Amino acid sequence: MSSDAHVIVNLDVPGPVISRHLYGHFAEHLGRGIYEGFWVGEDSSLPHRDGIRLDVVEALRALQVPNLRWPGGCFADEYHWRDGVGPREHRPRVVNSHWGDIVETNHFGTHEFMALCELLGAEPYVNGNLGSGTVQEMSEWVEYLTRADDSPMARLRRENGRDEPWRVPFWGLGNEAWGCGGNMTPEHYAHEARRYATFCRDHSANRLTRIATGAPDDDLRWTRALMEALSCLGCQKEPTNVFQAISFHYYTHAGEGIQSSPARGFSGDEFHRTMRTALDIDRIITAHTAVMDAYDPRGAVALVCDEWGTWWRAEEGTNPGFLEQQSTLRDALVASIHFDAFHRHAARLRMANIAQTVNVLQAMLHTSADGGLVLTPTYHVFEMNKGHQDATSLPLHVLSSPTVSVDGDEFSAISISASTTGSTALVSLSNLSADAPLPVRVELRGRAAGIRRARILTGDAADAANTFTEPTRVAPAPFDASLDAGALVATLPPHSFATVELDLA
Ligand code: AHR
Repeated sequence: MSSDAHVIVNLDVPGPVISRHLYGHFAEHLGRGIYEGFWVGEDSSLPHRDGIRLDVVEALRALQVPNLRWPGGCFADEYHWRDGVGPREHRPRVVNSHWGDIVETNHFGTHEFMALCELLGAEPYVNGNLGSGTVQEMSEWVEYLTRADDSPMARLRRENGRDEPWRVPFWGLGNEAWGCGGNMTPEHYAHEARRYATFCRDHSANRLTRIATGAPDDDLRWTRALMEALSCLGCQKEPTNVFQAISFHYYTHAGEGIQSSPARGFSGDEFHRTMRTALDIDRIITAHTAVMDAYDPRGAVALVCDEWGTWWRAEEGTNPGFLEQQSTLRDALVASIHFDAFHRHAARLRMANIAQTVNVLQAMLHTSADGGLVLTPTYHVFEMNKGHQDATSLPLHVLSSPTVSVDGDEFSAISISASTTGSTALVSLSNLSADAPLPVRVELRGRAAGIRRARILTGDAADAANTFTEPTRVAPAPFDASLDAGALVATLPPHSFATVELDLA
């Protein structure tokens, strides 16, 4: 095996378009995600717009957040939307029993979420309550949000201060129906999803993509049951269109399951086990895609990964129900691995949402109540990769690469993907080794290319993180990459992520 990674990118062979919605986010009523994260309230001394924290908005706007999923997660199947509309002082206080068993004030509700989406420039992905709500309740929420004329729910919305309907493109039909969403069987849920979806109408000009909640990881029984519920395999009928997408969730850990190991202070082997777990996303997407292809060869139904990311043991001294964890370079590489896989599978996988945006799990931002704001290493991956949004993926071939070994398994040390807008290309490269540098040679075939900008994200340790006292320990820096006879040549330091932006002739 050669000691450098040798890759071919065909700049003139277009693959599928990488939907910008693969760069989506998720904000649940969980810990300090909404309250203290996005929402500080109208009486806050921090800069805010109608209670929404503005430095958080500004930092996220730089990522071009395409969509935001809300209000859960598990919380979605306990949430009753009418609790969160109308004058705040009259909204009921309820208990958030999933996440910390704390009081939920309902001060952040439908209008506040839609205002947040408008500030971010993000499209709303509202997750309805199928587990403990009724069909009528879900149906009326859609009507409340999206109906233009004089219907009962449109009237109620106007009474609450909003005249025009909103545009809501994405609608979730419950969450994790196999667990916190109701402990259902795939077949039972598939029928429920059809029933609920039927009454989530396209009002006025709004067109919903209804998303049925699907598998944990690679549990293909869910994808199969949901595709079965849509189609009539063997009877030559088109799939019904009652829901338009199927989701699955996949969390990364260091080999022992979620929540079992700390976010920092890990060994080289634990780092590599984490890379191995993250790389498995490719196999899982391939498996779901194969099931969907059998029922729907033309790709009408989208696959959505609406929860992904790392899940470590909660930081010491925090409420374990708040899922607060530090974010390191290891997390950044988990993100870059996922994006490479998402780009490869962009034909079927059309949306993804990292869990979760602020202060929860693999967050982009950490905030403190006194106004502190930290950009995590994962934030920087989203920012460095944003040129892939809506670009055309480029097929590539890894001809050779050094490998990494852990527990008798071997995987390639390089993770890579590329896309083009026509006049530019973006190449993302990760070195998944905790300890060895990785020389790379990427042959750029089919078009002449010049380097516009190259950046690298790395640090002195794989568990380097940004903190309130050291907020820029892990930040993008110029990267020494050059062109040699039509090939991109560079050396990636251990545990690093780089992007190279190219101008194409
Ligand atoms: O993201 C945290 C939780 O993980 C979500 O609420 C749930 O859907 C999943 O189990």
